[in-house]
Amino acid sequence: MLKNNSLSSLANTARGFVRHIKLLIGSLFNYVDNVVYQPHLAQMENEKIYAERVHRTRLSDEDIQHITKYMCEVWDLDYRRKYFADTPIHMTLQGQVIPLIERLLNADQSVRTVANIGVNYAFADHVMAERFPDVKFIGVDFQPDLAEVNSDFDEKNLQFVSGYALDLIESGKLVSDVYFMSSAATTITNPELRHYISIFAQKARYVVFNEPIFADPYGFYNNPDVLAADRSLPVYLQKIPSTLSKMQSHLCLIHNYKAMLEAAGFEIQYYSVA
Ligand SMILES: C[S@@+](CC[C@H](N)C(=O)[O-])C[C@H]1O[C@@H](n2cnc3c(N)ncnc32)[C@H](O)[C@@H]1O
Repeated sequence: MLKNNSLSSLANTARGFVRHIKLLIGSLFNYVDNVVYQPHLAQMENEKIYAERVHRTRLSDEDIQHITKYMCEVWDLDYRRKYFADTPIHMTLQGQVIPLIERLLNADQSVRTVANIGVNYAFADHVMAERFPDVKFIGVDFQPDLAEVNSDFDEKNLQFVSGYALDLIESGKLVSDVYFMSSAATTITNPELRHYISIFAQKARYVVFNEPIFADPYGFYNNPDVLAADRSLPVYLQKIPSTLSKMQSHLCLIHNYKAMLEAAGFEIQYYSVA
């Protein structure tokens, strides 16, 4: 009887041990899947999508139609109004550009025009237009009804132009002393962004980038400074409900803005990666 009891307790211990080992192996597989394999698949997807568009130096008419359709599709004025009413401006990404432009306008008071490429909802522009009544602020974006959707802002020195900024600048329809992008350059391919910068080098006096750095699928924030001017990293695919195809989805890149501007002959006045 005693012997049987100790045998069955030994068997129980062995079963418990096997269960622990199975759990351990399961957790290990789970860990490898979450931390290595899924991020690896996501990064491969980012690279595949980017490879299809990496040679693009400008948007095609079809691309422009897709982006315009998408921007109109996701436009939510009530959300934007509430967000900017509830959030202190310096806590918003748009708000981060204000001290950069102010610094520039205070340092060079001969600047007369500032154009925001990819303006969308011009809250920061309206703040700056109020602070600098003698400077003209121009918001540029694809939406045909851009001025209408920004009718919350009524500063006389804040205007809107609808269209593809690259076409508008190249054709001379958009002229400005300063061009800036705020959370707009991240989705632009490396050659298209360098195309913008080469046009800025001919036509602008100053250029400002206020751009986020997205984490890659492994959760790392890659340092843009290690990238060459002609090489950008696709790191994050925005999973957004949309009728658009993957080709047009928002793939966010990390660019080395400093190297790109220097390669085009710009002198860097201020640079910070935070
Ligand atoms: C993420 S939104 C940012 C909007 C705004 N600057 C802000 O900070 O709230 C990016 C904007 O860039 C515009 N955009 C996208 N691709 C672009 C391109 N190739 N050239 C110029 N603008 C572009 C989009 O239409 C969109 O309004």
